[in-house]
Amino acid sequence: MSQDPEDLKRAAAQAAAELVADGMRLGLGTGSTVRHLLPAIAARGLRDLRCVATSEATAAQARELGLPVEAFEALDALDLAIDGADQVAPDLWLVKGGGGAHVREKVVAEAAARFVVIVDERKVVPALGAPVPLELLAFGLPATLAAVAPATVRPGAPPSPDGHVIADHHGPVDDPAALAARLDAVAGVVGHGLFAPALVHDVLVARPGGVEHLRA
Ligand code: A5P
Repeated sequence: MSQDPEDLKRAAAQAAAELVADGMRLGLGTGSTVRHLLPAIAARGLRDLRCVATSEATAAQARELGLPVEAFEALDALDLAIDGADQVAPDLWLVKGGGGAHVREKVVAEAAARFVVIVDERKVVPALGAPVPLELLAFGLPATLAAVAPATVRPGAPPSPDGHVIADHHGPVDDPAALAARLDAVAGVVGHGLFAPALVHDVLVARPGGVEHLRA
């Protein structure tokens, strides 16, 4: 019998919460797995944490739980960041951005001395595939969409936390580095959801038998 995905997400989140220590400057990701992370951190009663959040939803939940959230303008580096992912490849390339917060998530991951990804086993894939989330400038949007084709604006998606357009790239992801370079080269692309292995320090994969720890 398969295990409830929420139980697996909770298990990965609890394992990551154990990595948080007193006094850390902590980056908090976004998504349904992170929703399990925040209470697990709060329950530890750690002292002197300084948190930044990648979305308003995460900031609001963290504050409700008594975790101190600051603007990311107030800190120039983080000790640890923890976030979910939509896809994890065997070489630890990731796709993120199902929740549309991938640019802020990448800024936080890059600022962290250690970036830990928490997923249930359904996110582990043999190879990355479409869609790859995009965050695009509204200015010149049709031209940018044409430059990164095949891509479409995500139906019904609200703007990103920074007011940009959320879209998805629907082409193959056979070579994530080449696709990332192609997307990065287009001026109207604010960011994309491909995260390179160099950003990723640990992936905690929750399976029915326990949490597997993949290290970069
Ligand atoms: C948010 O923009 C995303 O990058 C999420 O971190 C990612 O989609 C994982 O979300 P879930 O934990 O809800 O699957």
